[in-house]
Amino acid sequence: MDDNNAHQHGHGHRQGHQGGHAPGHQHGHQHGSGHGHGPQDADFSVLTEMLDLDAEVLHEHLDELTGWIEELSGGTAEKPGGRDLRVLDLGSGTGAGTFALLQRFPGADVTAVDASPAMAARLEEKAAALGVADRVRTVVADLDTEALPAGPFDLVWASASLHHLADPAGVLAQVREVLRPGGLMVAVELEGFPRFLPDDLGIGRPGLEERCHTAQAEGRKAAGMHMSEDWGARLRGAGLDVVAERVVAIDLAAPLPAATGRYVLASLTRVRSALEDVLDAQDLATLDALTDADGPHGVLRRDDLTVCTERNVWVAARG
Ligand SMILES: C[S@@+](CC[C@H](N)C(=O)[O-])C[C@H]1O[C@@H](n2cnc3c(N)ncnc32)[C@H](O)[C@@H]1O
Repeated sequence: MDDNNAHQHGHGHRQGHQGGHAPGHQHGHQHGSGHGHGPQDADFSVLTEMLDLDAEVLHEHLDELTGWIEELSGGTAEKPGGRDLRVLDLGSGTGAGTFALLQRFPGADVTAVDASPAMAARLEEKAAALGVADRVRTVVADLDTEALPAGPFDLVWASASLHHLADPAGVLAQVREVLRPGGLMVAVELEGFPRFLPDDLGIGRPGLEERCHTAQAEGRKAAGMHMSEDWGARLRGAGLDVVAERVVAIDLAAPLPAATGRYVLASLTRVRSALEDVLDAQDLATLDALTDADGPHGVLRRDDLTVCTERNVWVAARG
């Protein structure tokens, strides 16, 4: 669920097209918001691939997380087994959270909101392929300028999306309104991007990944993204009660999931594109070698990859 192109996802995209939208499938509804990746866009296809692979590689962790939500919702969401659970997925991307929640709660349906029509289209394709199209509704909407779909929802999920918002407080205030009393909001955010590589790669200058992370963090800061926020405080500020909080530490060791090489390849391809104008020529050449799928130094051939990352999770209830 990483998005390592901070400088391409800046804010400043309030377009003045306010207002509600009829819920439902709203494709072809371009927002000109800077989030509308066209399906033809090579960068977009790498991003969707990366989000899909992220879900595949980290499936176990996501499963553990939804299991925890199920336990918590037994007490507060009053929907044992998820019967008739109405879920809202904010910034749903290609549906990592949507599908994990549908699997966890067999009676649930999910309204998946994303600013990108192409993301929504991809999510719909996947829903059809998984045989759950009747349990998913996509809404193409820019959360910074458009109202949330009407509730009440039992569960609101936002994974790696809140930091994109220009006005997170405004969106969280709306979340409170669309949650039913006792309903839960789950916020998942990354503490930086995953680490995949050893410090000394055997090619280029040691410390490449560290330099990439530093440059990306600066780019996200410059773009005004809300990284490393205390989302617990934000949730409380919106009038919700934080009922649980945890850090999910992910440190995958061999045997790595089969999709790991492709996940690292897609992730580094995005890093390469985002940092084109930032890294020096030697680091760019090293990234080229690493992202050459057929090359001798390409990540698909390396046996020293890892996936090491942390996700912070807050669960808040509407009292
Ligand atoms: C890093 S992806 C996370 C996707 C998904 N939640 C996951 O965990 O894989 C962030 C998503 O938020 C969406 N997004 C960013 N800003 C948005 C906004 N203002 N309104 C709606 N969606 C937005 C992007 O289009 C993207 O699909």
